[in-house]
Amino acid sequence: MVKLTPPMGWNSWNTFGENINEAMICEMADVMAESGLKEKGYEYLVIDDCWSLKERDEKERLVPDPEKFPHGMKAIADYVHAKGLKFGMYSCAGNLTCAGYPGSFEHEFLDAETFAEWGVDFLKYDYCYHSPIIHGKYLYRRMGLALENCGREILFSACSWGNDETHAWIKETGASMWRSTGDIFDTWDSVKDLVTQQDKLHPYNGVGCFNDMDMLIVGMHGNGNVGLAGCTDQQYRTHYAIWALLGSPLMIGCDLRTMDEATKETLMNDEMIRINQDPLGSQPIRLSTPYGNDNIRIYARNLANGDLAIGLFNMSGERAKATFNLDEVGLPFSTGRTLQMREVWTGNEVLVKNATHIEELEPYGCSVYRAKVVKL
Ligand code: GLA
Repeated sequence: MVKLTPPMGWNSWNTFGENINEAMICEMADVMAESGLKEKGYEYLVIDDCWSLKERDEKERLVPDPEKFPHGMKAIADYVHAKGLKFGMYSCAGNLTCAGYPGSFEHEFLDAETFAEWGVDFLKYDYCYHSPIIHGKYLYRRMGLALENCGREILFSACSWGNDETHAWIKETGASMWRSTGDIFDTWDSVKDLVTQQDKLHPYNGVGCFNDMDMLIVGMHGNGNVGLAGCTDQQYRTHYAIWALLGSPLMIGCDLRTMDEATKETLMNDEMIRINQDPLGSQPIRLSTPYGNDNIRIYARNLANGDLAIGLFNMSGERAKATFNLDEVGLPFSTGRTLQMREVWTGNEVLVKNATHIEELEPYGCSVYRAKVVKL
């Protein structure tokens, strides 16, 4: 399938890990459908690792754990579909999944058919316990081909963490998104680390196969499977804005049933989502950071209607000055044009003067603008 914009949804791993079950998943579907998330574009509800028994059945088929999912997976898919959502599941290119359940190695076509029978719309495909002698590109090609032939449209979400030069071969496997980095944890250091690792990978992001910076930690507040120290609401907002601006899939990882107002505001900002889902899917560029402060990150992206998205991010706990020059986005003074910018969180309007924008960012703060080219 060709996915034209970064997939959006919710995934069970960050908060629930192995503690997943039918009742919780159905409640999550209810909240996705009723809280406004679905209308904003969050459509895939994905069950991650730990959903099956440790052994396949006598026909070699994967078996949902009857204690966790007493009515099986088709019943969950039906429930999720009845809410107007799409249903995602998880498997692995290895003998085992990362948590030690059966992987799909040498069962790729059978498993793809099983997922199709259950009504699955999305498959996250992990990379633990894979063969040391078969290159990852062959393992992902197999599952990609199996999904294309399973009789149902299933989005292929690769999760090989950027290992083995994933960027060089992932598009040939039919994947619509690929994990470009390792796992996220609910700490600011983890966010910073993933953002830095992404620096070399921006050229590979784009329509049809999106760089997946991992599930969001927004709203976790230190609770759950990847909980750890947690972040502040400001840090969550900046994390979300970077993922959105850089064109990552937006897969929520917190417990949707207990989202507070700050979390909802961050996850449901229309303009931020519009930038993430922009149909041009253009490559983000990192603008130069004057004063040698590497904790200031400024990115720009061309949007389909000629506007630009520009984000200024302060990755440090100190107030800091952020500035950019319009030359770098193609608007030197000589063009007789400048940018009229609207900040997405506050709605503040700013007209850039003298081809230079300067502002102070709060600790861990960010400003993200939708900017229009206007005549001087
Ligand atoms: C890997 C993946 C995670 C999650 C776990 C499940 O670590 O990168 O996103 O799916 O496996 O075990």
